Amino acid sequence: MVKKVEFSKTLVPEYLKSLQVYQAGKPIDELAREKGLTKISKLASNENPLGPSPYAIKEMTGGLWELHRYPDMHAYNLKQALCELYDLKPQNIILGNGSEGIMAYIARAFIQPGDEVLTSEKTFIGFYILARSVGAHLKTVPLTEDYRFDVKALAENITEKTKVIYIANPNNPTGTYITKEEFDYLMDHVPGHVLVILDEAYFEFARQEDDYPDSMDYRYDNVITLRTFSKAYGLSGIRVGYGFAHEYLIENLSKVKLPFEPNLIAQLGAKGALYDQPHLERTIKVNHEEYLRTFKFLEDKGFNPIKSITNFITFKTGTPEASNWLFDKLLDFGVIIRPLKANEMPEYVRVSLGTPEEMDHFFEAMNAILPEYDKLFGRPN
Ligand SMILES: Cc1ncc(COP(=O)(O)O)c(C=O)c1O
Repeated sequence: MVKKVEFSKTLVPEYLKSLQVYQAGKPIDELAREKGLTKISKLASNENPLGPSPYAIKEMTGGLWELHRYPDMHAYNLKQALCELYDLKPQNIILGNGSEGIMAYIARAFIQPGDEVLTSEKTFIGFYILARSVGAHLKTVPLTEDYRFDVKALAENITEKTKVIYIANPNNPTGTYITKEEFDYLMDHVPGHVLVILDEAYFEFARQEDDYPDSMDYRYDNVITLRTFSKAYGLSGIRVGYGFAHEYLIENLSKVKLPFEPNLIAQLGAKGALYDQPHLERTIKVNHEEYLRTFKFLEDKGFNPIKSITNFITFKTGTPEASNWLFDKLLDFGVIIRPLKANEMPEYVRVSLGTPEEMDHFFEAMNAILPEYDKLFGRPN
């Protein structure tokens, strides 16, 4: 039996109607199917090109025999591992399906339609979508000229209506960061009733910088720090993120959290990854080497790459047309990068740092298409 209905005009709230569905990086299989290619380098989603830690794989494989059971809803072992590593208490930790999963819980628990949420332009789109999806009034300030969160502008735009401030440090898609001094300045200007989300998805890459404010060195009751196993730990596929904050915040977030998240395999994989510090160190070393090579390549070619302390580099093409053309042409060569139209940076593109072989693939493809690129667009400077 089939029954057609006319959906009520009020079914979907006004603030959802104008929202676009999130566009992820192009999947490898999709490109392989479309172009009949076998060699593909996916440099679009800031993943770890070395893959997961073998130790994490072993832990997850062991868990397969337990899949008929629900996972531990308190994720005791994973929380314990995080407590040991960072000297935390379990009541200050929340786990979820990626750090974005926790962001969704923050939105659900603390943001109501009409609440004012303050952040920057040109930051992580996932946050814009989540804030809008609960009806927040999103207020943004421009980045500084050197593509960083502008703490002064943020401080100036805090009003009594501001409920949440979102900072991605380092920022995606620019790879830039606010310094300790800037973080102190911002926190001096944030009233206690405003909740600050400090998104540190790229923390493991960033912490090598002396003036990077590691949130573990601070204890602000109104700050929630978010981190993830998706980037340096190489576990995007199992979706695990963690947040730490005052227990009052964690307790209230726990009320809206789905009880069995992260799932059983995800808990095991994340715990395994935490114990494999050598894999993390290898990841950071390879990333740094490929960063230097890629930055130089892009600089030599006149693309004005933005200095980044993460596992990706954003560079200027100069026009939206040039960005789209570059993205499409690189696909023909099996290289997937990220156009940044959705991030309000259409005249830029972003390339994630891969293995040495993947970056060579990117350089070769770029060298092959640059003569045609020059005829059409010229270099941006
Ligand atoms: C700044 C930032 N925050 C959060 C996320 C989401 O990561 P997760 O996989 O933990 O949900 C990303 C992913 O690209 C990101 O760049």
